[in-house]
Amino acid sequence: MNLYNIKHPEEQVNFAQAVRQGLGKNQGLFFPENIPHFDDIDELLALPLVERSQKILSALISTEMTESQLAQMVKNAFTFPAPVVKVEDNVYALELFHGPTLAFKDFGGRFMAQALATVRGDGKITILTATSGDTGAAVAHAFYGLENIDVVILYPQGKISPLQEKLFCTLGGNIRTVAIKGDFDDCQALVKQAFDDVELRQTIGLNSANSINISRLLAQVCYYFEAMAQLPKEMRNNVVVSVPSGNFGNLTAGLIAKSLGLPIKRFVASTNVNDTVPRYLRSGNWQPNDTVATLSNAMDVSRPNNWPRVEELFKRNGWALSELHSDAVNDSETEQTLKQMYDKGYLCEPHGAVAYRVLKQDLQEGENGLFLCTAHPAKFKESVERILQLELDLPETLAKHAALPLLSDVMENDFATLRAYLLG
Ligand SMILES: Cc1ncc(COP(=O)(O)O)c(C=O)c1O
Repeated sequence: MNLYNIKHPEEQVNFAQAVRQGLGKNQGLFFPENIPHFDDIDELLALPLVERSQKILSALISTEMTESQLAQMVKNAFTFPAPVVKVEDNVYALELFHGPTLAFKDFGGRFMAQALATVRGDGKITILTATSGDTGAAVAHAFYGLENIDVVILYPQGKISPLQEKLFCTLGGNIRTVAIKGDFDDCQALVKQAFDDVELRQTIGLNSANSINISRLLAQVCYYFEAMAQLPKEMRNNVVVSVPSGNFGNLTAGLIAKSLGLPIKRFVASTNVNDTVPRYLRSGNWQPNDTVATLSNAMDVSRPNNWPRVEELFKRNGWALSELHSDAVNDSETEQTLKQMYDKGYLCEPHGAVAYRVLKQDLQEGENGLFLCTAHPAKFKESVERILQLELDLPETLAKHAALPLLSDVMENDFATLRAYLLG
């Protein structure tokens, strides 16, 4: 698989280099030069998740590793299901929270750990990543205990849910966690600055596990196929998919699935009031506001990193950006929607509720809707219990980590301090 840097197309790398490097020159994102097209979608959809995902990922990256290596990587990474659940007659939920850290990030995090272990070569690696809540846990658990790999995770202090924090800030060992006095965009900016620092990058073998890393996105492509495989056959040609979006990695993966030939009619990008993208699609002006804290905190992002990849996909496929519908939901609407969903018999959490609401507003006569449920409701226990007036049982992993002490360091939003910390 050959990839180019979107900012500097002359910079070209293969999959292994893209996985190791994360970002290209001048913080440019890597993008696949060619995306193959499957003509036999029905055959593909008839396969079980792991087997189908092996075929999809093999079509994308098998030139650089053997089929059996790749098959093993997928088998090791995708050890849990992604069920589609009917919420109402023409609206279905794709539940992506049945992995070890109860969020969709387990797909990408676990596959990336497998990919890196395969292509890493010699020497020490430091994974530096920023999280708005769920990436941290998925990456920490996927890399925990791996030899010669240090992981440093930055997150906005006080701006992720207490249980999200417990899940990854209690591990210790090769996982260090840092609460930054700032918001997620600040954390993301620090990671980018670190990547721009050539000396630092080389000294500690810097790598990123954010959705800027192509291996994570490619893994996520597979669950869009899984969703379609589980939908009733007669629905498959008219499906609109609503993606709860923050950094727009998940939407990028969906668009890659569509480029591969998956017959998704169109996508809806659903955000909270951090609405840079819906405003941009309406006005044509890219004007990020200050990031605001919301109930769907993992989407509190006003400078979405993956947006250039989204635009590149539209451009390369000759799709009009106007086909991408997008809208924002505020917290009181999110609360109201969670209650409505619960009344219909579906227990959700704020991110999924944002996706459901925008989907319902956007769905046209004759279309079928699918929305992505990106986290387990118990990860947002405090808000879900308050809004729905109920008590949630904690799944086993969460209960175990909830009882452990936090091990995080606290740091000013300052690159020099972070640099010294990484080198020390
Ligand atoms: C629960 C949850 N939903 C949605 C998102 C947004 O996904 P993306 O950043 O890929 O747009 C995140 C990202 O952290 C998340 O953790």
